[in-house]
Amino acid sequence: MGTVKRQPWVVGVSGASGTPYAASVIRALLAAGEAVDLIVSRAARLTILDETGISFRDAHWRTDLAAWLGTDEGLDDVRYWPAGDFAAGPSSGSYPAKGMLVVPATTGAVAGIALGLSKDLLQRVASVTLKERRPLVVCVRETPLNGVTLKHLVELDAHGAVVLPASPGFYAGGSTVRELVDFVAGRVLDAVGVPHSLYLRWEGELGAAARRADGGAASTAEGE
Ligand SMILES: Cc1cc2nc3c(=O)[nH]c(=O)nc-3n(C[C@H](O)[C@H](O)[C@H](O)COP(=O)(O)O)c2cc1C
Repeated sequence: MGTVKRQPWVVGVSGASGTPYAASVIRALLAAGEAVDLIVSRAARLTILDETGISFRDAHWRTDLAAWLGTDEGLDDVRYWPAGDFAAGPSSGSYPAKGMLVVPATTGAVAGIALGLSKDLLQRVASVTLKERRPLVVCVRETPLNGVTLKHLVELDAHGAVVLPASPGFYAGGSTVRELVDFVAGRVLDAVGVPHSLYLRWEGELGAAARRADGGAASTAEGE
């Protein structure tokens, strides 16, 4: 029996608005020394194109991913699987994945995972993750939510997935879009115990994060 060397997190990017959340999660996983197996749904190509101007191509995924992430640092730790490839490694429970992060998750992906449809590799790997009792984080992005999706989310929660809405908190002192995106990405990593420094944590003092983010200027002003 061979020893397991590489144990990646599978990142599934589905076609919801919010591709910056996925980019932040991938960058932070790589920065933490984690390996990443990446799946980009067909619809996600449209959202990546819409939100970044990048055409994400299977044959040129490395170049396109580097452009999307804004860096090629850590890309040697990324393995890319086309969304139609049901023979891909992570489609089997015997593949040594640590778990899966669906970021962002469409209501369609939420439904497909809750119902076990496996209509593409992303949904198949999510089903495998649940059956293997590995961590599954579903970062849903839609507003408002209809009753059908709410039921599917309850179903996912009941089966052990972490339902993590792409809903930034403002208590961490973030004011730029990047900081708010990183807050959500940081909560995704928190859900699976991967260390990061994507946002300032609550320390039990009102306004403290805002003051720290401000470099102490606010607290100085208050003290004057
Ligand atoms: C620009 C754009 C933005 C979209 N944003 C969302 C969204 O925020 N949430 C959502 O559930 N679907 C959204 N959709 C629709 C999904 O892409 C569509 O339902 C698709 O079938 C989902 O497929 P997938 O789950 O395989 O990625 C969006 C589509 C486009 C083109």
